[in-house]
Amino acid sequence: MRLTDAEKAMLEGAEGPAVARAMDLLVRYGEALGAERLVETNNVCGTIGATTPFMRDFAAERGGLDAVFSEFNLDSAEVVKVPKAKTYACHLQQGMDPENAEAMGLKPEMVQLFRRGEAFSASLGVQLMNTCTPYQVGNLPKKGEHCAWMESSAVVYCNSVLGARTNTEGRESTGAAMLTGRIPYWGLHIEENRRGTHLVRLEVELADVADWGLFGYYIGEIVQDRIPVIAGVTGTPDLPRLKHFGAAASTSGGVEMYHIVGVTPEAPTVEAAFGPKRPVETIRYGRAERRLAYERVNATARDREIQFVMLGCPHYSLEQIRNVCRLLEGRRIHPDVSLWIFTPRAIRQLADRNGYTRIIKAAGGKLMSDTCSAMSRAIPPGTRVAAFDSVKQAHYLPAIMGIQGWFGTTADCIEAAVRGRFEADLR
Ligand code: F3S
Repeated sequence: MRLTDAEKAMLEGAEGPAVARAMDLLVRYGEALGAERLVETNNVCGTIGATTPFMRDFAAERGGLDAVFSEFNLDSAEVVKVPKAKTYACHLQQGMDPENAEAMGLKPEMVQLFRRGEAFSASLGVQLMNTCTPYQVGNLPKKGEHCAWMESSAVVYCNSVLGARTNTEGRESTGAAMLTGRIPYWGLHIEENRRGTHLVRLEVELADVADWGLFGYYIGEIVQDRIPVIAGVTGTPDLPRLKHFGAAASTSGGVEMYHIVGVTPEAPTVEAAFGPKRPVETIRYGRAERRLAYERVNATARDREIQFVMLGCPHYSLEQIRNVCRLLEGRRIHPDVSLWIFTPRAIRQLADRNGYTRIIKAAGGKLMSDTCSAMSRAIPPGTRVAAFDSVKQAHYLPAIMGIQGWFGTTADCIEAAVRGRFEADLR
């Protein structure tokens, strides 16, 4: 791999041992990928701190969170003192909501661990956004900007909707990127790798966010980690629709980028989205495909009586919370059902000020932040059947927790929360 003089100096220790370790990791990683060089980045979204009991014990034995960062972010057996982040950096979702730890079944020592991790991240200058949707709370890289982001649903949004450039990085590469301001130049950093591979003809109206999730789920399974170009979309899908489409496509497949002709920034036309390439396949999405996707998402669901409704995967926007409040205001959740709604912490504070948190609480639900059920492995005790308005959560949580999961619209889920039964079908 070719390094600039500044990068060689970092590798040789000019900026201290942690930066040298970070550069060493990036060189090894880049060479394994076949990257010829690194590219500068000033936008990193990652994970640091001791996020599991194992890491907590590791920190206790090896000398604190510098040791955890050395081992798990820098792949360094030697413990190095971690300097402040060189780049703009923000923290992704965590393993708990410290303000709802009891409901999540977490012991006080886990909350202490969380708080220590947060203090460590803050001391490095990492923004404590604690969300899978950093783009909803102010991290909006510009078109063409090179980033180093983790979290599949954020990566696909970053590439597709914002037109910024990132691969799906890991804890190690984002840790190294925030100390060096570099990431390997490969994959979606390179212009020609961002062209479409599959043409998708949309032949059914997508009425709501749930419809966009089903559409993404169907397409992701077919294209896997390649790049679909969607033609036939009328109007401009809003943030929740694009968020759910990408999250679903990266769930059933490994989609890191999509184009919607006339909507996303690198697809003004079908021709521009493909560039010199020709589509390897043309996919049709009509009523039959929509039904098939719905049945696949609901594959685990049998019993209609539910005990849990989880909303906010990916984390809800303020407008989605407002929508829930419209559906919920003046009603009570069934006594056998828990309703948890996840959003970034910054949005929860806005929801508090707007009175939305109060409406949800009055109905018997909880507005939570920083995590979700899949990340925290936390569901209300006694949950056998849950309902979701997210394809991604309906795909993962039943597999993770051994429960049944229904997927429907937000209105279907709120109705189920109030009645204690999921009665909806695809309309
Ligand atoms: Fe976010 Fe959890 Fe879904 S981290 S994308 S809410 S699985």
